Amino acid sequence: MCGIVGYTGVHQAAPILLEGLEKLEYRGYDSAGIAVSGTDREGNPCIEVVKAKGRLKVLCEMTDNGRSVHGCCGIGHTRWATHGEPSVANSHPHYAKNKRIAVVHNGIIENYQEIKEKLIKEGYVFTSETDTEVVAHLLDKYYTGDPVDAICRLMVRIRGSYALGILFQDRPGEIYAVRKDSPLIVGRSAEGNYIASDVPAILKQTRTVYFLKDMEIVKLTADGVAFYGLDQEELERSFEEIHWDTEAAEKGGFEHFMLKEIYEQPKAVRDTMSPRIQDGKIVLDELGLDEETIRGFARIQMVACGSAYHVCVSAKYVMEQTAGIAVDVDLASEFRYRNPVLDPHTLVIVVSQSGETADSLAALREAQKRGFLVLAIVNVVGSSIAREADSVFYTWAGPEISVATTKAYSTQLVAVYLLAMHFGRIRGVLDEAACGRMVEELQQLPQKIERILEEKERIQWFANKFSHSRDIFFIGRGLDYAASLEGSLKLKEISYIHSEAYAAGELKHGTISLIEDGILVIGIATQPELFEKMISNMVEVKSRGAYILGITSYGSYSMEDTADYTIYVPKTMECFMPSLVVVPLQLLAYYVSLGKGLDVDKPRNLAKSVTVE
Ligand code: AGP
Repeated sequence: MCGIVGYTGVHQAAPILLEGLEKLEYRGYDSAGIAVSGTDREGNPCIEVVKAKGRLKVLCEMTDNGRSVHGCCGIGHTRWATHGEPSVANSHPHYAKNKRIAVVHNGIIENYQEIKEKLIKEGYVFTSETDTEVVAHLLDKYYTGDPVDAICRLMVRIRGSYALGILFQDRPGEIYAVRKDSPLIVGRSAEGNYIASDVPAILKQTRTVYFLKDMEIVKLTADGVAFYGLDQEELERSFEEIHWDTEAAEKGGFEHFMLKEIYEQPKAVRDTMSPRIQDGKIVLDELGLDEETIRGFARIQMVACGSAYHVCVSAKYVMEQTAGIAVDVDLASEFRYRNPVLDPHTLVIVVSQSGETADSLAALREAQKRGFLVLAIVNVVGSSIAREADSVFYTWAGPEISVATTKAYSTQLVAVYLLAMHFGRIRGVLDEAACGRMVEELQQLPQKIERILEEKERIQWFANKFSHSRDIFFIGRGLDYAASLEGSLKLKEISYIHSEAYAAGELKHGTISLIEDGILVIGIATQPELFEKMISNMVEVKSRGAYILGITSYGSYSMEDTADYTIYVPKTMECFMPSLVVVPLQLLAYYVSLGKGLDVDKPRNLAKSVTVE
């Protein structure tokens, strides 16, 4: 996600802003910029803006490490692209005409398109593809001399998630900030006051902070901080002292990025789905696939690696049940060499968090070489797979630092659900009412994930009992089999324990010979029609000595007649169960790895993006 820093005080602002942005580099970004309140040659107040694509050092070189930009009040930004390719024009700060107002933003303005169209009709000239630029022009439109009033009007008009840092040209020395669903902190010190997306950016300058709440507005001057509500009334707020070290601060107080990213899943899922659901209907115009094209697909061929491949396995069940279209799934490393025979009317879907996985990119090129249309589900904007695909569905998980994917995986599942429902409705398989009910249920997922996260201690307790296992098996049927694959990979890659995932009906064809006393078998049973069969499979392995961990949804309490320990997840539609089941599996893997004292975020032999064969 993007990074924001702001400073107003007794020192020159630009060097402080650049130093703060450096501390946010771990969040991932593709461009950066600063805006500083100063005066022009005639001594009039002005805002100087400097932006650069690429690494922060480009911006540092352009500004002689900030020394060439004069002024004691400014805002800075590192951009993680969501709307619009990485470029100077798309980088922040964005500003209104003649730089009356400059803005930096972290989040997603969901209704920016309709606002942009309206503002263009009113004569506003846009210079970027971003959602953020509408904020600068709207503030310019609303500003009549009272910044807080203009910001309040802005908050009523825009929808989505945002943390905003704002400069008004005629208010030199003042920074305004506001947030909704995107974090923003306020720092206070004897030498000036700060805003930042995250603690690391200002930890060197101050430990006296206030974590801004949703819909609160803050005004910073060199020697004071004031807070306002949406009613423009001033608010009393108290600061706190933080005692994190830098490394802990980068993880937001979590011990590892993986746990932080597991906890970011509700927001990542919400950020990925919300902009695509308008008035209860799915809107995927961004794909550039018209209805005739969608109806013309005879099959779908999905291709990916690792966890992204497991999303494809889930997608087979979801797409076939919801959209009535046949889905084939293949590992990218196999697809690219097997000279595949595909129906001429096949849509190829490539799934990749990084968008740089060599095998997945090669599979994409192989498909395009054969004349197939390729849709990519990708998290990194402007990545190779995103650039080369014919159509892109971006997951807005934000940068994923931990090698073991969690939040990106969850947003890829959401992408699959939305595509399946969109295709199902257009192909006449899913009626409007059924689609509406699915949309409503889909929108409940974030809080259901949050509910599971509240149970982490139970999962941690269980993990510690089995952190020294030699072998662990995962079994499931249907969508629970797909979930088993992901659970097993998560465990293997960060705990180094041998694990296998099996379609439960397959056990008697060989694998059951491996079951012996005390071996842990994790049975996932969330699909009602398959529940009884799953219980039978668990009984099979239990009678041969296995210890059973059952994972099912609340209400299926008969699981406890068979399982030695049961973890429950909230009920939801069967096709959305993978999004809930994966959370205890992620936590289980995390706590087993933690229990073994391993490097959870950087497991041995693995890289975050496998850009070579
Ligand atoms: C998942 O936890 C692993 N890190 C790995 O399997 C990963 O999913 C795979 O390498 C694919 O990466 P991609 O999604 O960036 O293409």
